[in-house]
Amino acid sequence: EQPMARQPSAHDSLSSLREKAADCRACPLWKDATQTVFGEGPAHAQVMLVGEQPGDKEDLAGKPFVGPAGQMLDRALKEAGIDRTKVYVTNAVKHFKFVPRGKIRLHQKPNTAEIRACRPWYERELAVVNPALVVAMGSTAAQSVFGKITPINKSRGRLIDMKDGRKALVTVHPSYLLRLPDEDARAREYERFVDDLKIAATQMQ
Ligand code: URA
Repeated sequence: EQPMARQPSAHDSLSSLREKAADCRACPLWKDATQTVFGEGPAHAQVMLVGEQPGDKEDLAGKPFVGPAGQMLDRALKEAGIDRTKVYVTNAVKHFKFVPRGKIRLHQKPNTAEIRACRPWYERELAVVNPALVVAMGSTAAQSVFGKITPINKSRGRLIDMKDGRKALVTVHPSYLLRLPDEDARAREYERFVDDLKIAATQMQ
């Protein structure tokens, strides 16, 4: 017997969304990943942070942003005066995409088809959590949040009014900071990232 494809419905709570997403087959990424990494945080957070997709550590832990990018994010949130336990943290794509490279699993950027296939989960998370502000970290997140390709540099660092009445804030992905080879550039970009998060902090009570 074929298992039913699991799809989100408008009646699902966060926990039933999480359960259904665990069996999602909407794109091929489930095959090689360890598990679906669903969002986490308060069910009615005022701010939702959106990343790209789980990395190696997240794939193993089943939680978003627990690896090196997560540590970078934690540090920046703290510096911006945001308590991570008060925000809902999720990813545009909920399975880890990688290619094996010897002993490591090398992260690969999700493509548009994968981002679109995963978007219903994000849409339902958004509807249930109902945040006033969505923070898109990096271009994959921005593509999911705005439903179209959105260049980071043109949109970053300011509150954008969305059609659904929420606000959006675009910033870089913390992994981008980790990849910058030049130390001064990294420090500068980190400060800009913190400045962006400080704008998010103004939208929290
Ligand atoms: N990068 C992401 O975009 N999300 C994670 O959860 C971890 C790393």
